[in-house]
This record gives sequence, C-alpha cells and structure tokens, in this order.
Amino acid sequence: MLRIIKKQKKLKVKIMSQNSYIAVEPSPALQGTVELVGAKNAVLVIIASLLLTKGKSRLTNVPASDDVLQMIKLMQSLGAEIFFYPNEHLLEVDTSQVTKWQVSADIMKKMRASILVMGPLLARFGKADIAAPGGCVIGTRPIDYHLKNFKKMGALIEESADYLTARADLLHAQRIVLEYPSVGATENVLMAATLTHGVTTIVNAAIEPEVLDLIMVLRKMGAKITVEAPATISIEGVISLQPIEHAIIPDRLEAGALLLAAAITGGSIYLPQAQAYSMDVFLLKLEEMGHEIIVGPQGIGITLKAIKEPRAVSFKTAPYPGFPTDLQAPMMAALCLAQGTSIVEETVFENRLLHVRELQKMGAQIKVEHNKAFITGVDKLYGASVIATDIRASCALVLAGMAAEGSTVMTGIHHWTRGYDGLENKLMALGAHVTVYAGQDDAAVVFAQPDTLNIAPAPRN
Ligand code: EPU
Repeated sequence: MLRIIKKQKKLKVKIMSQNSYIAVEPSPALQGTVELVGAKNAVLVIIASLLLTKGKSRLTNVPASDDVLQMIKLMQSLGAEIFFYPNEHLLEVDTSQVTKWQVSADIMKKMRASILVMGPLLARFGKADIAAPGGCVIGTRPIDYHLKNFKKMGALIEESADYLTARADLLHAQRIVLEYPSVGATENVLMAATLTHGVTTIVNAAIEPEVLDLIMVLRKMGAKITVEAPATISIEGVISLQPIEHAIIPDRLEAGALLLAAAITGGSIYLPQAQAYSMDVFLLKLEEMGHEIIVGPQGIGITLKAIKEPRAVSFKTAPYPGFPTDLQAPMMAALCLAQGTSIVEETVFENRLLHVRELQKMGAQIKVEHNKAFITGVDKLYGASVIATDIRASCALVLAGMAAEGSTVMTGIHHWTRGYDGLENKLMALGAHVTVYAGQDDAAVVFAQPDTLNIAPAPRN
C-alpha cells in the first residue's frame, strides 16, 4: 500500500506493512454533506492521454489514491516531469521530455490500467513495449480487443509470455467494431486515433462517464471527436495536440459508496457534486429499496434519506448506462440487511463475487450459482475478520462492518487505498467508526515538490 506524506520539499510514498488493516465498529446513522473527489477511472486514462501532447498540463480534482500514484510513477519512468499536490488535488504533468516507450513488468503488474499508455505511445513514437498484464482476481481480463484493433490499424504486435512489442510507422484510420463495449479498449483506440490520419470510427464503444471525460480532455487538446447514437465514436485525426487544463469529473463510485453508507446505517446524506445521470440505474435500485432520493437541478447534487426497513431488489451489472459492476459489491452489502431475497447477477467480470464469502463470515445469507448471488436479508450482521479481494469488495466489507454488531477487522487494505482517497476520513466525518491501522515499512521518495504553488497557466485551447 502506498501513502503520501508531505514534507517540506518532498512527497514520500510509504509502503505499508502487510499487517495494515481497517477496523470498523458499529456506526450510528450517518448524517452530513460530503464533497467528492475526482474519478479514479477517469484520471488514470486522462494522465495517460497527456502523452499525446508535448508540454505542461494541469489537472485538478485528482484523487491521491494509490493507483493514481502508480500512474504517476509510470509517467515518470517514461520521462515526464510531475508535480503532485495531493492536499490540493492538483497534478501538473510536463510531457516535453518523454523519450521512452517501455513499461516495465514491475509497474505493469502493480496496475493493469498501465495498458492505457499503449495507444498514446503508439501515436507518439510508433512504438510501445509493454510487459504482459497478468490475470487478476476479478477475472482473466484479457487485452485481446486492444491488440486486435491496434493490429487492424496497422500495428505489428509481437507477443511473448512476458512482453508485448508494438510497432507502427503509420497507423491507419479504420472502422473498429468492438464485440463488447470495453472501457479500456475504447479509450486506447480512441487515443491512438486522435493522431491518426483519416476518420476512425468505434462502433459499440463504451460510453461510461469516464470515457466521456477523456473525450472532453482530448477535445480540449484539439482532437476532433463526435459521439453518436448508438454508442459510436468518430475521430478525425489531427497533426498534433496541445497541453490542457482540466477538472476531473466527480467520482460516481465514491458517490455510490457514500450513498450506501448512509443507506446501510439508516442515515441521510447530501452529495452536492454527485451527477445523477452517471448513476441512474443505481439510484433507481436505491429507490426501489425504499430509500428517498432527491436529485438537484440539472441532475447535480444527490440527497439520500434512508428508510428503516429496506426491501430486497434484484439487478444485473451491465456497461453504462446499466448498473455499474463497480457498485455491485457495495450494493450487495446493503442487500444483506434488506427484507426479502435479492438476486444479483454479475455480467461484466467473470469472477467478481469473491466478497460473498467474506460477507457470509459476517452472517450474510447468500447462495451463489455461477455468476448469480441470491441474497436473503438477515436481521443482523456480525463483526468478523475479513479479507478484501478487490477495490470494490473492500468497500462492501467496510459498509457491512458499519452496520454489523461487534468489531470487524479487514485486511487486504491495499485494495481500499488503490481505489479511494481518504474515504475513511469522509465516513468518520459523517459519524462512522472506521479506523485505518497502517504498519510502516520502507519509504521511498518519488516526487519532488516545489516550494510554492506558483504555476504558469496552461495554454488556452
Ligand atoms: N475484456 C476482454 N478483452 C479485452 C478487454 C476487456 O475480454 O481486450 C473483457 C474483460 O475481461 C471484462 C469486460 O471485457 O470481462 C469489461 O472490461 P473493460 O475493458 O470494460 O474493463 P477495464 O477497462 O479493464 C475499467 C475500469 C474497471 C471497471 C470496468 C468496467 C479502469 C482503470 N478500470 O476496466 O474499474 O470495472 O472498466 O466498467 O477504468 C474498479 O475501479 O474497481 C475497476 C475494476
């Protein structure tokens, strides 16, 4: 796990020991208003997209979660100069001196999202050497759609057990049809196409809000992109792209976690920045459970007032605008205490029900058949020692712990810190009893920080 510690002129990344854990105690009904940070899944790809430009870009609303820190390290390893001000959520990236196109196994294995630099590197250098990503706990997560379509655009790709070598003197615009609207494949092809002569079309593209935020960034850079129904993105290649300034969209997954935290404790919460359109089906299901949801003008700002005895609801995960797979586990925690039987079907990832076993340790009544979980609500959950297996599972277990009787101790908290930037502090500010106990091992200095925040304005686009 990584943690930033601010010193006078340096930022340190601390690698915490394996015995770090989160302790969760029964929590009262959470009450309050919370500011959201920027979306991790938008900022990761947006940082990668800066490789398409040469110069200094400035991103605000950047979460200091560990995946973001890994992406910063990756960019540094390619030659980018980075200044990160985690308390201000401000990131400056200067890509003028990027000279490398190789991503090491060390970086790749820490974060699969590293594959997102492949498109920008191919566009910038005509070359990308990337360590092969392995499987991961939520499924095998292949990158065949990325590779197949880079090949279609003219890249020569050699794959060995440990490395991918891609070469393309010139990429060619193509009509790309994705057999599944993969978020990563859409983003990778989209970025490569911005500097590819001609018009590239991506049919059956992912149109998640994070993909749309990337498109907004690419347009600010000078890219020519249109999005049309049904889920088709067209990109007319340009000669060069300019550095940008951009505020990352609010994190709908942090918003979901906070709404569920209020729901599971019987509280009420207001998220002034939350964008309702980015989570409509999720909000619909919260309403079907009986919770009151109030959406602000123009769909911005969400209030949840919890019902005392929520009802069971069923859903299946799907690409946007369906129910997000990343909210499936946290929602399941709430359903463990709902009246009746809920059926949750995971369709996006092949193995994303590992949190079921941990929730069962807390007294949840859940049966699993293939990719479906049948959850029969119980009157009480009980604190237990549990293990987080992925980012969203960690969230589910913390939520369950807040509503359980007795103490919960969750290990595997590197997943929590990969995906959330200080969510525990936001929960505590609302009244939750959640404490991170972090062991402290080796520290490594990775970021230099100037004395002041005196930053030259980015060029206007
Ligand atoms: N897939 C393939 N071949 C490919 C690409 C994807 O078979 O070449 C499959 C995957 O194995 C999966 C499905 O397609 O079963 C969807 O994968 P997708 O490519 O859409 O996911 P991703 O780009 O790898 C991003 C998010 C995930 C989020 C998914 C779905 C980032 C960095 N990650 O992953 O976020 O669950 O989209 O919305 O943006 C998380 O934040 O906890 C997380 C896992």
